[in-house]
Amino acid sequence: MFRCFTKEVCSLKRFTCLSLFPEIIKASALSSIGGRAVERGLYELEFIQIRDFAVNEYGKVDDALYGGGVGMLMMAEPVFQSVTKAKDDFRQSHGEGREKLIYLSPRGRVLDQQKARELSELDHLILLCGHYEGVDQRILDECEAEELSIGDYVLTGGELAAAVLIDVISRMLPGVLPAAEAWQKESIASGLLEEPQYTRPAEWRGRAVPELLLSGHAARIEAWRQHAALDLTLKRRPELLTKLPMTHEEIRTWLEAREQKTKASLPLLPGEQMKKEEKSN
Ligand code: ADE
Repeated sequence: MFRCFTKEVCSLKRFTCLSLFPEIIKASALSSIGGRAVERGLYELEFIQIRDFAVNEYGKVDDALYGGGVGMLMMAEPVFQSVTKAKDDFRQSHGEGREKLIYLSPRGRVLDQQKARELSELDHLILLCGHYEGVDQRILDECEAEELSIGDYVLTGGELAAAVLIDVISRMLPGVLPAAEAWQKESIASGLLEEPQYTRPAEWRGRAVPELLLSGHAARIEAWRQHAALDLTLKRRPELLTKLPMTHEEIRTWLEAREQKTKASLPLLPGEQMKKEEKSN
């Protein structure tokens, strides 16, 4: 019922970040699981300071908009030089590879798990972080950049978006997560929202963990989890169900089971358990 990627095809070797404020990305990408993965050499992170390619000795990398308008735009040449360095560096250490320039921008297609997975199959991702009003269109055209957004809101720059993209992709790479936490099993990655989860104590402030989870009955627990995940997805993000790798027949059976209450034989979901308890009190 769940999408299962068994073959590891994620092959990404390096992220190169082109930025005026790389410390924003480093704060996330070099911490915790990601930081350890880089230390272990599971993938590489390179940071290129766009200001190193400024057009004058004062570090100029931006200018006013042609045609007027507020704010400054990052100039094409320093960005182009940065992209060229990123490509040359990669070639020197890894030879030819599948490479893509991504421009983080609210104009782009919105990132989702599927897109992240596609990108993880490349060898080198060059992440261009705009600041101020963005970058000169000609550098995007010249380098055939793909624009990618992390959501329909406007950030001050692309750095936080790059950090998100690195986080999403890096955790798909072989060895980054322990097998027990394999990303395929998680939430959206499986096509569903994650079911409610519980840890000790079994009762907290009058709220009990669903009984079945304490039963030790592995098969019934798994069925409960799948149904709880489907239920939550139906309630909160029904549109995700249309993207599920479930056959129509499977979805119909599940929906019918819910409607006809034939799931009497199925374990109760958390909301139902609470209702049942309220009734019996
Ligand atoms: N830069 C500014 N806003 C952004 C967004 N929503 N996604 C990606 N990059 C951005």
